[in-house]
Amino acid sequence: TDTIIEPFRIRSVEPIRFTTMEQRKALLSEAGYNPFLLKAKDVVIDLLTDSGTGAMSAKQWAGMISSDESYAGSESFYRFESAVQDITGFKHVIPTHQGRAAENILFTTIAKKGDVIPSNTHFDTTRAHVEHNGAEALDLVIDEGRQPLTIHPFKGNMNVEKLEGTIKRVGQDNIPVIMLTLTNNSGGGQPVSMENVKAVSKIARSHDIPFFIDACRFAENSWFIKTREEGYEDKKPIEIAHEIFSYADGCTMSAKKDGMANIGGFLALNNDKLAQDCRSLTILTEGFPTYGGMAGYDMEAVATGLYEALDEGYLKYRIRSTAYLGDKLIDAGISIVQPTGGHAVYIDAKEMLPQIDPLEYPAWSLTNALYLIGGVRAVEIGSVMFGLQPDGSEKPASMELVRLAIPRRVYTQSHIDYLAEVVIHAYNQRNELKGYKIISSPAVLRHFSAKLQPL
Ligand code: F0G
Repeated sequence: TDTIIEPFRIRSVEPIRFTTMEQRKALLSEAGYNPFLLKAKDVVIDLLTDSGTGAMSAKQWAGMISSDESYAGSESFYRFESAVQDITGFKHVIPTHQGRAAENILFTTIAKKGDVIPSNTHFDTTRAHVEHNGAEALDLVIDEGRQPLTIHPFKGNMNVEKLEGTIKRVGQDNIPVIMLTLTNNSGGGQPVSMENVKAVSKIARSHDIPFFIDACRFAENSWFIKTREEGYEDKKPIEIAHEIFSYADGCTMSAKKDGMANIGGFLALNNDKLAQDCRSLTILTEGFPTYGGMAGYDMEAVATGLYEALDEGYLKYRIRSTAYLGDKLIDAGISIVQPTGGHAVYIDAKEMLPQIDPLEYPAWSLTNALYLIGGVRAVEIGSVMFGLQPDGSEKPASMELVRLAIPRRVYTQSHIDYLAEVVIHAYNQRNELKGYKIISSPAVLRHFSAKLQPL
């Protein structure tokens, strides 16, 4: 058969609460026109993020029940550590409560004022931690990665000539680490090829610069390599993951994505001295290095979840279900980042709403329209998220995207059909949508709590 079904049965369910358009108008206004400030119970389909929102398996819950909550040296930590070591091959495993905590520890330890940290595209928390330490976060994704409609199998790749040029320009001593985000979330959930991982690694090693992977969606990236890169079609996702990590010196990880857990993360690395320094900071900010901000049961969930994320049947369904939504929107004439990414569909709001100036936030406008029309909560990845510069000025982001992030193992095909209808409805009303202005906002990561007003 051709139908790829959800590779699980549902044994525990949560009710969805329905609202009317009138109710949603009031709720959105009360939330300062910021979907982050809505109550989750007022959302019908919640696509704000795929982070920590997945459904866990019976096997994960079973592990959680039998966790070891000892402060130091718990059995759960050793299960967690050996799963991470088995999959990544890295020697030292430092648990953290989520991905940004691993970023905080890494960048606080290695970055200083004046440094430059290149990546394909830094995620917003990664960028914020780099900048918080006085360093510059430099995005060097290939040109295709900034063109929503250009088809390329690995739009998350880094431009290696630009990387070489950067090293020449700023000097290797001012680059404490080179990063690659797998998959490239801010650039559309686009994968990085093994060839690119290898090329970046070679450059990093030839200049003695550590190379770290932001591994949040490493399993999804491995599936794209399997299905799109020559020579990998017969390899298992875990073998591909092994190879990816073998080219790097370490990784930061949010286990809320391909760890299939509701919370958790880690920093894993090979260098003994750096690991020691990072562990010291972990004690200060996270907790003892055998729990690092997680309960024993969280570590159990991650230890099992990492393997479930690499399951072939799961990955096939996961990537196909995202593409299924993408195909429906493309068929309706809507511009999305193509090919469809791994964890999300990204609508090109600049293309859909040319009447709205980038600094009047077209992607924000579309995001709010989706909520008003169908109670769908999406997230803007555009000038509200990225437009504010460290000096306080504003600059349009390179793309104005609306991300529909799909939680893992949560929504069924009919949820996705409903969702496509809502987006198509918004598309049909596109000429009536208006821009927004920001009324109040904090100085960093402003999109999380800014208040806006329709123009
Ligand atoms: N790196 C990437 C590529 C991410 O997507 C995220 C989180 C992080 C790091 C930080 O991890 O949330 O555990 O601290 N992304 C979520 C998202 C929030 O919605 O894309 P965290």
